[in-house]
Amino acid sequence: MVQTVAWIVSLIFMLLIAAVFGFVAFKSKEKRDYEPIKKKWYKARTFYGATLAVVMLVLTIYTLRELPYNQPVYSAGNDPTIVDVEAIQFGWKMSETEFKVDEPIEFHVTSTDVTHGFGIYDSELNLIAQTQAMPDYTNKVYITFDKPGTYEVLCLEYCGLAHHLMIGKIEVTE
Ligand code: CUA
Repeated sequence: MVQTVAWIVSLIFMLLIAAVFGFVAFKSKEKRDYEPIKKKWYKARTFYGATLAVVMLVLTIYTLRELPYNQPVYSAGNDPTIVDVEAIQFGWKMSETEFKVDEPIEFHVTSTDVTHGFGIYDSELNLIAQTQAMPDYTNKVYITFDKPGTYEVLCLEYCGLAHHLMIGKIEVTE
């Protein structure tokens, strides 16, 4: 059944393409002034280019407007917990590792040696937030845990022989 449909659809397309080739071959005998054709298609190309530029600009702004992701709207009395994170070959130094559900947290992430990747994983090892840990630079990650549990911090950038041993733990309770 599916094969019959596929065969008929293919046949229709093959005939269509053959018809287009035939039409072009037939028309190619005809002499026509080149200038108006050129003008017409240059116009089409300009229109296509301009439309594409506008669409891309709108899409870019639309998809990036929430950056940085998860940055909460802070109000008085709802200050985030600031957590200093230092990556070091080969481990994580975190000023705090125990949090509550719905507590807004701001991780300030840096490194004391080379560049590492700070990645927070949930208990099913889904990556839920990440940033680079770079020497002489502090990157911020905003997160508000919505589920209690044990989260893991893994290094996301190869940083030396014991890169795979850079595992940190975060406990989130109700
Ligand atoms: Cu630190 Cu890989």
